[in-house]
Amino acid sequence: MSKRVGLWLVGAHGGVSTTVAVGLSALKLQATQNWGLVSELEQFSNLDFIDWSNIVLGGHEIRETDSRTEALLLAGVTPAINRELIIKCESELAEFDKNVRPGVLYNVGETIKKLSDKAFVSEDDSARAAVNRIQVDLEEFATLHQLDQVIVLNLASTEPPVDPESLPKTWAEMEPTLANHDCPLPASSLYAIAALEKGWPFVNFTPSLGSCPSAIDELAVAKKTCHMGHDGKTGETFLKSVLAPAFAQRNLEIMSWVGHNIFGNMDGQVLDDPINKETKVTSKDRLLGQILGYDPQTHISIEYIKSLGDWKTAWDHIHFRGFLGTPMIMTFTWQGCDSILAAPLVLDLFRFTELAARQGETGLLTFLSSFFKSPLGTNENDFSKQFDMLTHWSDTSDAPG
Ligand SMILES: NC(=O)c1ccc[n+]([C@@H]2O[C@H](COP(=O)([O-])OP(=O)(O)OC[C@H]3O[C@@H](n4cnc5c(N)ncnc54)[C@H](O)[C@@H]3O)[C@@H](O)[C@H]2O)c1
Repeated sequence: MSKRVGLWLVGAHGGVSTTVAVGLSALKLQATQNWGLVSELEQFSNLDFIDWSNIVLGGHEIRETDSRTEALLLAGVTPAINRELIIKCESELAEFDKNVRPGVLYNVGETIKKLSDKAFVSEDDSARAAVNRIQVDLEEFATLHQLDQVIVLNLASTEPPVDPESLPKTWAEMEPTLANHDCPLPASSLYAIAALEKGWPFVNFTPSLGSCPSAIDELAVAKKTCHMGHDGKTGETFLKSVLAPAFAQRNLEIMSWVGHNIFGNMDGQVLDDPINKETKVTSKDRLLGQILGYDPQTHISIEYIKSLGDWKTAWDHIHFRGFLGTPMIMTFTWQGCDSILAAPLVLDLFRFTELAARQGETGLLTFLSSFFKSPLGTNENDFSKQFDMLTHWSDTSDAPG
């Protein structure tokens, strides 16, 4: 497949985006292997995925920095990426940086605003003005690089929660509210609207609102394009969605599940704000009740411990009951490098979404649910059943080359 497609990263210089940029460069240069990439599994070898060399990176960012600096930070005290690999990828990273534009700050909360040190559209402008600005940047990118398609992937900091129920239900009702100065939609939803209005897919890797509202789904369908979210499932929640079905299938009752998470990257710093943390905890806590059919007592803590950098440790304590009511305990410790776990899944999501869009799929891509903590459009949270949805889609997929 020889078309050129843009991958537009919102939060272009964050930890995950930077790892995506280094990883994609390394794959183009054949300087790494396919570790961690789901799309490289044997069962997907029938799919006509886009070549790595045909992907062009661009994005929005609110901080004044560059990919090389951010990558070297990830190679620093708590190494996530090999320094020599970054040096090999330097010219690719510089090309990416040429396509990065100032992002929009709209209903993002004080903690995210404080990160910002470059020009942006703010609440002083209307949400419509922000959407228009984003669209100008996306169109310039597509024209400059002669792209057949642009896929927007949200990797920006987690925003404070917005109740989707408080929003207009239809696109006809929501669209006029963009002109109001008190429009409640956060930046993540404005990026989604900007992409979808142009007929380009949107994927939300964060727990922020993004394309969750039904009105935005309606927009995607009307524009004959697709979207999916939300919140990438990379570590502790991935294990929950693997383990909880096993307890259920042995008729072992989970009485409580407690998870303590500690990490020290910028995502952790933003999640240290209780308002932003609420969005993440809700997303991490949603799946157990859906898998088990009852709600055990749960507790999730997320603490910012600066010295840990991108390395996250999660301790989970599962208190369960078996035959004759005898209580037992399982504990596990997960020590993962956040950006290294997330970046290949971002590349996978891009590849599957690009293929689905080429096949003319519209609306929510629920077959991608195994990639998300809170998959939209489905209540299926059992990882193995979600993975079956992906393989079933692959077996019946018929994309033109
Ligand atoms: N394993 C994982 O790393 C993982 C898993 C699931 C979800 N996520 C989510 O992915 C997102 C990115 O994670 P990260 O570790 O890269 O975080 P990060 O803090 O390193 O990066 C976020 C980037 O977004 C930028 N940004 C913030 N608001 C913006 C806006 N309105 N427009 C443009 N840029 C904006 C910030 O300046 C920063 O560079 C977070 O929301 C995180 O919760 C990460």
